[in-house]
Amino acid sequence: MKLWGGRFTGSTDSFTDHFHSSISFDSRMYRQDILGSVAHSKMLGKQGIISQQDSELIQKTLLEILSDIENGKVTFDEQAEDIHMNIETILISRIGDVGKRLHTGRSRNDQVALDIRMYLKDEIKNIQKLLTELIETLVSMAEKNIRTIMPGYTHLQNAQPVTFAHHLLAYTEMFKRDNERLDDAYKRTNVMPLGSGALATTTYPLDRDFVCRELGFDSVTLNSMDGVSDRDFVIELLSVLSIIMMHLSRFCEEIIIWNSQQYKFVEMDDAYSTGSSIMPQKKNPDMAELIRGKTGRVYGHLMSMLTTMKGIPLAYNKDMQEDKEGVFDAVDTLKMCLPVFTRMIGTMTVNKDNMYRAAKGGFMNATDAADWLVKHGVPFRDAHAIVGRLVLYCIDHSKSLDELTLDEFKAESDIFTEDIYNAIKLETCVNSRTVAGGPSESYIKKLIAINKDYLNGR
Ligand code: ARG
Repeated sequence: MKLWGGRFTGSTDSFTDHFHSSISFDSRMYRQDILGSVAHSKMLGKQGIISQQDSELIQKTLLEILSDIENGKVTFDEQAEDIHMNIETILISRIGDVGKRLHTGRSRNDQVALDIRMYLKDEIKNIQKLLTELIETLVSMAEKNIRTIMPGYTHLQNAQPVTFAHHLLAYTEMFKRDNERLDDAYKRTNVMPLGSGALATTTYPLDRDFVCRELGFDSVTLNSMDGVSDRDFVIELLSVLSIIMMHLSRFCEEIIIWNSQQYKFVEMDDAYSTGSSIMPQKKNPDMAELIRGKTGRVYGHLMSMLTTMKGIPLAYNKDMQEDKEGVFDAVDTLKMCLPVFTRMIGTMTVNKDNMYRAAKGGFMNATDAADWLVKHGVPFRDAHAIVGRLVLYCIDHSKSLDELTLDEFKAESDIFTEDIYNAIKLETCVNSRTVAGGPSESYIKKLIAINKDYLNGR
């Protein structure tokens, strides 16, 4: 008989059991479910709601069940619907009537809300650790590439020279923000709902603060109807995970471009590439493509959860069981993508010469030539026009700006002197941008130090 079977005369259809059972995916919360129950039964004993002796037997048996599960000695039963009732059923099968006292003053509605919060708290920390490892890798790659000049793009058109370190550290900023967003999501996940009951608490004198402390939560939920029906923290986490995937995906897109035959800025290590079944010459950046592809799947889970929640009246409704598969899959996806990505970029070869060569083409120093004129008294708009004409001249004569003779410069403006050549050197272009946020060696060293402080603080 089902744990809730008293009011029923007929049995449920077995196909229906299969349909509404969640054990296939919520069994992964067994640890949280058991630790939550241990804290609950400890509190019931302390409050005299059940006897100390019963409380202790329940706690001890629950911990035995936990180790049995961890040692693969327990098989769950679809008939028992979900992880909560599976564990309660096992408890009752081991200690009979005493086990039946555990669920006093509790509902599966506040129980599941508790379990999923506990589960996601752990996973947020796991993901933050992976994110921090990625930031570490980026910072150490940046350190090795402070002088690696490469093209900076806007519209994927050559714009101004930057360095590979500058480019890498742009992503570090994104991932640091992601880490902060996870801190923030954690705060609102770290609120303890047990004691909300089905929706209206209970008549037993529960000590919710005790359970809160036992389980390491910050505070208790303040409204029982909200306590059982809030899944904002799931949606917030899915949003943050979506943003992280978006960042990874942009980075993957760049790596795919850089790894192409046309760019050859980087080469993926064999461990992170695959071949083609038909074209023998191929070495494809599949891992980067797969991470880019999996972004859609995480976004999908966010959309699906927002949609599931949008029409649900207070308080608990079974629709909410749909919260788990999506967020679990999103968490699993991040836990695979982040380390693969970190290792993939950490092992790729950086072709500094190719980056430099690419930075030399496309007149990326044109702004600097114009700025040189401005510093010599020419109004910026005029300087822009002069250099524009020089670029046109260069295109017609298949030259770059630094290949022009001084006479050719002077033909457009007699203000030009010999030191224009130094001003338009790529190294000068990069290193004279000493403004905070820029690519200069002096500033990038500061930014690396800032990032190291950040890493030491995590
Ligand atoms: N498996 C359910 C879920 O994941 C647990 C809560 C069930 N509560 C209920 N009243 N049916 O949401």
